Amino acid sequence: MPCLSDGAGMTQTDILHKKGGRNVKYREFGKLGIRGSAFGLGCMRFNGPASGDSVIDENKAIRLIRQAIDGGVTYIDTAYVYLDKTSEIVLGKALRDGYREKVTIATKMPLHAVHSREDMEKLLEEELRKLQTDHIDFYLMHGINRKSWEAFKAIGAPKFFDDMKKAGKIRYKCFSFHGPYDEFEKIVQASDWDMVQIQYNFMDVNNQAGTKGLELAGRLGIPVVIMEGLLGGRLSKAPENVQALYDAFPVKRSPVEWAFRWLCNHPQVATVLSGCNEPEQIEENLRIFDTVAPGIMTEEELRLMDSVREAYLSRTKIGCTGCRYCMPCPNGVDIPGIFATWNDQALYGTNPREEWRFKGILKNNAGADRCVGCGACEAACPQGLGIIEGLQATWKDLNR
Ligand SMILES: NC(=O)c1ccc[n+]([C@@H]2O[C@H](COP(=O)([O-])OP(=O)(O)OC[C@H]3O[C@@H](n4cnc5c(N)ncnc54)[C@H](OP(=O)(O)O)[C@@H]3O)[C@@H](O)[C@H]2O)c1
Repeated sequence: MPCLSDGAGMTQTDILHKKGGRNVKYREFGKLGIRGSAFGLGCMRFNGPASGDSVIDENKAIRLIRQAIDGGVTYIDTAYVYLDKTSEIVLGKALRDGYREKVTIATKMPLHAVHSREDMEKLLEEELRKLQTDHIDFYLMHGINRKSWEAFKAIGAPKFFDDMKKAGKIRYKCFSFHGPYDEFEKIVQASDWDMVQIQYNFMDVNNQAGTKGLELAGRLGIPVVIMEGLLGGRLSKAPENVQALYDAFPVKRSPVEWAFRWLCNHPQVATVLSGCNEPEQIEENLRIFDTVAPGIMTEEELRLMDSVREAYLSRTKIGCTGCRYCMPCPNGVDIPGIFATWNDQALYGTNPREEWRFKGILKNNAGADRCVGCGACEAACPQGLGIIEGLQATWKDLNR
């Protein structure tokens, strides 16, 4: 079986691996006793070809994957569902010619595709075939929350994962998570997980698993892999008020570098995934991850990132926490969805994900135009928000 860079005799952190003149940081994977590259490549965001005749520009994606591995990346993340189920196929092709042996693969089992042990067996075999390998290193229950964890348990997924570990078809039993902290707290302690993957970045300290979740996993010795470290790219371009803070700091770094540096400062973080679409992004990320290590940030740098977070948050349009106490709206308005879109655009600028979400709201006939001002939402809102007025404002701002 391929293993992560063994780094024999090296210290806990800040391990330098000389490769073609480049130093690439490798980090410990908690209790697993293995090491992986601090920069992990995500295979969820490859672009399609200019011709538009497939969802992935296959040749370009293969070049990007191999560029990352040649630069020292040992951790690659994909999933059954990514890019219309083609991501695993392209990764399998990229890992021919001796590349498989240089990396660990993480891929995922989606709940919607499995209803029984037989389904899980078939799905895993399909993934192994697509990836052209005899085993998967990190196998994840995909996008777990309280409800899906119950469903995964009901079909015997934890035992299936344990059996597949014994059979050598997977090495590690893991899950990825997008729910709130209280659900994370229960699920992370409910099984003997080998790794967890959470969304985390300097803006998400109190969102989803958040800092509390990261620290809990760390206390349990469970390595944490980070997704959305740049919030899907949104943190790569700073708005004016944020850029002014970066510019005023004595050491000059790009917003991407600050975001990755902040993440890697956390000792619990094993690998930070980033989906890259251009060779320059891979090159830049390889460079950045060569300069970071746990505990590397100074007090001044940490204060800068607190100010940056505050500067982003000062752009918030409405203090909706997404608690959904206002739902269901008697007229079908998706109040939390509309406010999340409104805030997201104000904080990070127009971005494809929010546009896609907002289009979905309109398609479902759940836009702010359905509001009749009955006030049922305002009576239920624990934050005391002026929801009716807010909805009217969103209609002007978002309905371009
Ligand atoms: N399990 C799950 O539920 C789940 C959910 C989300 C993600 N994931 C995994 O986690 C991986 C990482 O998440 P992510 O792709 O959202 O990571 P991310 O790092 O937050 O965002 C990736 C995007 O950031 C931009 N970027 C990356 N490096 C850059 C650089 N040096 N300079 C400027 N822009 C840069 C690119 O945007 P542009 O393309 O716009 O340039 C890229 O597509 C995914 O690829 C996927 O494998 C898993």
